[in-house]
Amino acid sequence: MNTVATTGPTTSAAQQPTLSLRNGVTIPQLGLGVFRTPSGAETRRVVRDAIACGYRHIDTARVYGNEADVAEGIRESGVVRGDVFVTTKIWNDDQGYDQTLRAFDGSLARMRFDYVDLLLLHWPVPQKRLQSWRALEKLQKEGRARAIGVSNFMPHHLRELLAHCTQPPSVNQVELSPYLQQRDVCTLCNEDGIVVEAYSPLTKGARLTHPGLVRIAADVGKSPAQVLIRWGIQKRLVVLPKSTRPERLAENFQALQFHLSEEHIATLDSFEEGLVTGWDPRKAP
Ligand SMILES: NC(=O)c1ccc[n+]([C@@H]2O[C@H](COP(=O)([O-])OP(=O)(O)OC[C@H]3O[C@@H](n4cnc5c(N)ncnc54)[C@H](OP(=O)(O)O)[C@@H]3O)[C@@H](O)[C@H]2O)c1
Repeated sequence: MNTVATTGPTTSAAQQPTLSLRNGVTIPQLGLGVFRTPSGAETRRVVRDAIACGYRHIDTARVYGNEADVAEGIRESGVVRGDVFVTTKIWNDDQGYDQTLRAFDGSLARMRFDYVDLLLLHWPVPQKRLQSWRALEKLQKEGRARAIGVSNFMPHHLRELLAHCTQPPSVNQVELSPYLQQRDVCTLCNEDGIVVEAYSPLTKGARLTHPGLVRIAADVGKSPAQVLIRWGIQKRLVVLPKSTRPERLAENFQALQFHLSEEHIATLDSFEEGLVTGWDPRKAP
């Protein structure tokens, strides 16, 4: 089994920062994203390496095609299931009440788990999302999903859901970085007790050489990726960087070990430019 060497004092799995979801479930603020992590031995190795670094939170999805290997990697790592927070998501083709329930059975069967820690609707599918949400409420009630939430929900999607749901979402996972701060989404989520998760927090690499970011990184003696992750942690977001490389898994995890000054945070805040690197749900009806 590969392990990852880290140098200097390290943040242990137990010491890492967490947030409390509305139903009291605790979520580690730093999670490993596995979108485009190839399924099979590669995903299992990445998950083992990440757990060896200290990660205790993995963000997968049915559509990533690697749920089974994420779960197997956790088993191979030797940590107990209850020590790792696992998220999966209901893909668009699977939305609707009955379809969502069936899709979730499929996810649990692939993972050979009794429950997931967080189950998200991957996208606000028109005409189906409210029915899909009812299915998530049922799964949470049954304890098969410890917490439920949404992804790519913009303010108009969230308002509609909040007006119709019995259980409000615990989480909204959206693309978020200093270059796309989603302030309107965050304001609404904060008002309604919804934790915001930042996906593509490293801008998929698109801004890692941005001069302003590089200057801050040099100032604090950290890498640009670590500064982006740290900014999200200090904003009280859940941050989900993806890497398959052992040295970057360790580098990214070490973003838990330093602090950005208020001045640096304010400079990062000034980088807003509406940069969308993935899909853009703003115009989704
Ligand atoms: N809900 C949604 O709709 C949605 C959409 C997109 C993403 N997500 C979630 O968010 C996670 C992260 O987003 P993402 O994968 O789009 O992008 P990201 O985390 O912003 O960036 C990943 C890219 O950065 C590279 N990288 C990682 N660490 C680095 C470092 N320290 N220095 C330089 N480059 C580094 C990775 O390459 P290597 O792997 O080669 O290191 C990869 O190319 C996903 O894996 C997924 O779990 C959710």
